[in-house]
Amino acid sequence: MKEQIDLIVKSLEDKMHDGLSLNDLESLRVAYLGKNGLLTAQMAVIKTLSNEDKPKFGQWINEAKQAIETKISDQKNFLLIQAMNAQLEKETIDVSLPGLNFKKGSLHPLTIVTQDLEDYFIGLGYKVAEGPELELDKYNFEMMNLASDHPAREMHDSFYVTTNTLLRTHTSPIQARYMEQAKGEPIAIIAPGKTYRRDPDDRTHSHQFMQCEGLVIDKDITFAHLKSTLLGMARHIFGAERTIRLRPSYFPFTEPSVEVDVSYITAEGKTEWIEVLGAGMVHPNVLEMGGYDAKVFSGFAFGIGIERIAILKYQIDDIRQFYTNDLRFLNQFKGVL
Ligand code: FA5
Repeated sequence: MKEQIDLIVKSLEDKMHDGLSLNDLESLRVAYLGKNGLLTAQMAVIKTLSNEDKPKFGQWINEAKQAIETKISDQKNFLLIQAMNAQLEKETIDVSLPGLNFKKGSLHPLTIVTQDLEDYFIGLGYKVAEGPELELDKYNFEMMNLASDHPAREMHDSFYVTTNTLLRTHTSPIQARYMEQAKGEPIAIIAPGKTYRRDPDDRTHSHQFMQCEGLVIDKDITFAHLKSTLLGMARHIFGAERTIRLRPSYFPFTEPSVEVDVSYITAEGKTEWIEVLGAGMVHPNVLEMGGYDAKVFSGFAFGIGIERIAILKYQIDDIRQFYTNDLRFLNQFKGVL
């Protein structure tokens, strides 16, 4: 019986040669080990054996099965590796070929202005803070002294996500968040970022625009500090000959409040003004809600329109240019840093 099994294994060895394909090998596996295979047929013999001979016979069959399986799978692996090597050979990369020439972009003008503002304020010792664009009513309005029935909320008509959350209408909520975090310590921060309002788009308004918030809180902060800081900012951005003009205004979160214009010279040589920011002394209610004793601390705050600065600095005629990704526009800022 053992000879018979050995003969079957031997007959497989005789059939194995290098020219066999993966399909040929699979056919051989079926011919020997399949349901009607040569080795499987030997299993019928087991019924004719005594109980004593059965285990020995079973062991021979198993050994033969393993030998056949190993022979076939070794040959299959050999073929697969051969095929993979051939493929790798075909796919070799010529590393000496010249690389692809990527077009170099440049910083967006709004990024250039933001970085320029950061340079100025970091130089004065300010920290750069940030806050979420999806803001809570509490920070966007309540802690900015705009209670839920305050009429000034209408000027900030906005994109609400729930009754309680909205896309922030200004960067001022970062003031409230930072005050909470600073726990009564003096503050000097700026916070540039995106803001959203339901303003109809035109040459000077966009429904999404950028602001740079500023907040300073300490003992003995006066309006003179605010004025000199903003004049310094205008001169840093636009040059030493620039002046600023302060007009009385109203913001619920500052008292007194001003709107600040920067001067520019028209093509006809006339001095004109463009409004770039709102500012004022931090309202006592805002200080108190932020955890500061308004009898001890004072502060100033401002919110700069970043697009307006860029419009003025680069003489851009339409705010929508910043958001349409027109390369003819953007390429003009190559090398401007
Ligand atoms: C505010 O948003 C106040 N939070 C600013 C502020 C901060 C005042 C801290 C006092 C203290 P206002 O709505 O005026 O204020 O906006 C400030 C600046 O953002 C404007 O001067 C203008 O430059 C810019 N701005 C406002 N709305 C738009 C708009 N739709 N598109 C482009 N720029 C805008």
